Amino acid sequence: MAGSGGLGGGAGGGQGAGAGQGAALRGPRAPLLLAALVLGAYCLCALPGRCPPAARAPVPAPAPAEPLRAVGPRGAPGLPVASGPGRRRFPQALIVGVKKGGTRALLEFLRLHPDVRALGSEPHFFDRCYERGLAWYRSLMPRTLDGQITLEKTPSYFVTREAPGRIHGMSPDTKLIVVVRNPVTRAISDYAQTLSKTPGLPSFRALAFRHGLGPVDTAWSAVRIGLYAQHLTNWLRLFPLSRFLFVSGERLVSDPAGEVGRVQDFLGLKRVVTDKHFYFNATKGFPCLKKAQGGSRPRCLGKSKGRPHPRVPEAVVRRLRDFYRPFNRRFYQMTGQDFGWD
Ligand code: A3P
Repeated sequence: MAGSGGLGGGAGGGQGAGAGQGAALRGPRAPLLLAALVLGAYCLCALPGRCPPAARAPVPAPAPAEPLRAVGPRGAPGLPVASGPGRRRFPQALIVGVKKGGTRALLEFLRLHPDVRALGSEPHFFDRCYERGLAWYRSLMPRTLDGQITLEKTPSYFVTREAPGRIHGMSPDTKLIVVVRNPVTRAISDYAQTLSKTPGLPSFRALAFRHGLGPVDTAWSAVRIGLYAQHLTNWLRLFPLSRFLFVSGERLVSDPAGEVGRVQDFLGLKRVVTDKHFYFNATKGFPCLKKAQGGSRPRCLGKSKGRPHPRVPEAVVRRLRDFYRPFNRRFYQMTGQDFGWD
């Protein structure tokens, strides 16, 4: 259930849907009704997503038809070598979170490495599509040669209660990468994304607090995702800390080569992606690639990455910062890393 979460408390007070909506829209309750409609649309968008129908799921090239084996010699379940260039394997590493942390940037940077083969889209297997089965999941993966790493990213895994058990079932040796970012900025970024799809959404402040400026609404997914310590607790029941790498979303912007260097070390890869691959694009305001994978021209991430954020009153930001502080501290203790958000 934890996927993208719902709006929780905010949607209360729905006006009776009984008599003539048209008349009501012209009457004094019109703004209320409109707000309820926008909120309703937002609630629907914010529900945990469903697995897309097979035709709309990422289309795999035909997979080798051998049966699934249990855990292979390198710790990951695998298949005997198929003919052709490499074979499809389960990912040895996953970028499991967090939404709006900088997960797309990290994936695109890692794809520059010749020993990394990554799925471009988010398969959502361990949260939404699990009933399709492991063979289906593996069939989505790009082929790899021995020594290459298969990688996928689905940021909602980190906040999905069932994901650790399911991933552990695939392989307890899976390496888990979590890109984390100041939870207040992350929440605003999340809101900015939703706002871009749902114009007329209530203000950030109206969604972040219950009853005006009452308690912080932890049922709102934009807030809840930032409770990193709570989500991590769920994972640490099954995976030791050594199986994780926590990447700073802030440093991924200020020092992409440094953060990607840490990731390459963690994955046991040679540091091939270095500062030579990046330049700072002043127009975009972010690091971009001098040459993208498979191309020869500079490339920045798309418009949905690095969006302008709506202005949020300083008092709101301060209250949220205070709210997150104890959770952040706990997260620093758990990970042994101080991300400097306080
Ligand atoms: P904003 O759009 O709020 O700035 P994700 O890919 O997990 O959805 O994360 C999106 C965030 O990645 C963006 O949030 C942006 O801040 C961050 N990011 C990190 N490095 C980036 C880069 N090189 N180009 C664009 N966005 C980057």
